Amino acid sequence: MDLLLLGGTRFVGRHLAEAALARGHRVTLFHRGTTNPDLFPAAEHLLGDREGDLSAFAGRRWDAVLDVNGYVPEIVRASAGRLTGAAAHYTFVSTLSVYADHTAIGRHEGSPLLEEASGESYGVQKAQCERVVEELWPGRSLVLRPGLVIGPHDFTGRFAYWPWRLARGGEVLAPGHPGLPFQGIDARDLADWAIRSLEAGRTGVFNVVGPRAFPDVPTLGELLELCSAVTGSGGRLTWVPESFLLERGVVPFWELPLWVSGPAHEGFHRLDNRKAVAAGLTLRPLAETVRATLAWLAERSGELPPRPEGGPPAPLAPEREAELLAAWRSQ
Ligand SMILES: NC(=O)c1ccc[n+]([C@@H]2O[C@H](COP(=O)([O-])OP(=O)(O)OC[C@H]3O[C@@H](n4cnc5c(N)ncnc54)[C@H](OP(=O)(O)O)[C@@H]3O)[C@@H](O)[C@H]2O)c1
Repeated sequence: MDLLLLGGTRFVGRHLAEAALARGHRVTLFHRGTTNPDLFPAAEHLLGDREGDLSAFAGRRWDAVLDVNGYVPEIVRASAGRLTGAAAHYTFVSTLSVYADHTAIGRHEGSPLLEEASGESYGVQKAQCERVVEELWPGRSLVLRPGLVIGPHDFTGRFAYWPWRLARGGEVLAPGHPGLPFQGIDARDLADWAIRSLEAGRTGVFNVVGPRAFPDVPTLGELLELCSAVTGSGGRLTWVPESFLLERGVVPFWELPLWVSGPAHEGFHRLDNRKAVAAGLTLRPLAETVRATLAWLAERSGELPPRPEGGPPAPLAPEREAELLAAWRSQ
């Protein structure tokens, strides 16, 4: 098939491009030429800007479009509208953040979404983007709602923090308790299923989370023990109550990655993925994602990717972790 990817050179899109090329498709990547522009010499690269210059689409046709980097409804409207006559099928990469209620366990594709009136957050905007795509491509669109995406090339370093931290060994500060739930979709599983889906002309909305079929949700304890076993570093986990960490200003999800705190997020790591699993989503064992993440870190001299300036806080520095552990012990 001839596939047009909007994006494709950072993380999720990069895996989509890799999967599409591996499955023998002709791939065109549309981007500005600033992020890893030398990747994928086997693909065609069209330079432009979703926020203004769409002229590279003129006179072109593809079988399907994959919109990976749409965040703002009007920007999505411009590209998705421009392309309605240029392809038969449109896939939009959305997010679980579109759901209105993170307290609910087992949210499925029909669960309520955030409305425009609830502000301008990432989730509200992505929900609006979904509506734009469904309006412009009725019956011809596939909407993917991934949970946390994990694996190599994740520039946020959120999942990578734990394999990285356990590999260093010693006493490891773990947030809350080992029974906290954890879900994440390996970017390669997401990409493989997305490409197979558009080959099949699949339409509709799908939660795309892993690493197992709901309601079998791993725990943070299982993940951290797995990281310890895979790295063989003998790291010892010290679980510190959430209230202690919050009182000391530790930022959930970012400073201690993957940890979401309190009843407001009860359902965050418990999304129902059974519709996608029934439609052929395959999920690799979590240990494979941990190993691949460590291999990717090794290519980067073992360093976590730096946090962009002005972005959310970086994972705890070793000194701060040691201070918090000492404070906890001296209680
Ligand atoms: N990471 C997660 O855990 C997670 C979870 C749920 C959902 N998601 C969704 O997954 C997607 C993540 O995307 P990604 O960044 O990993 O995708 P990506 O497609 O690998 O990278 C972003 C691409 O967009 C291009 N780009 C950025 N701004 C552009 C513009 N104005 N015009 C044209 N091209 C532009 C970049 O290249 P240039 O800079 O060269 O233009 C790059 O190729 C998002 O839709 C996000 O909402 C992510």
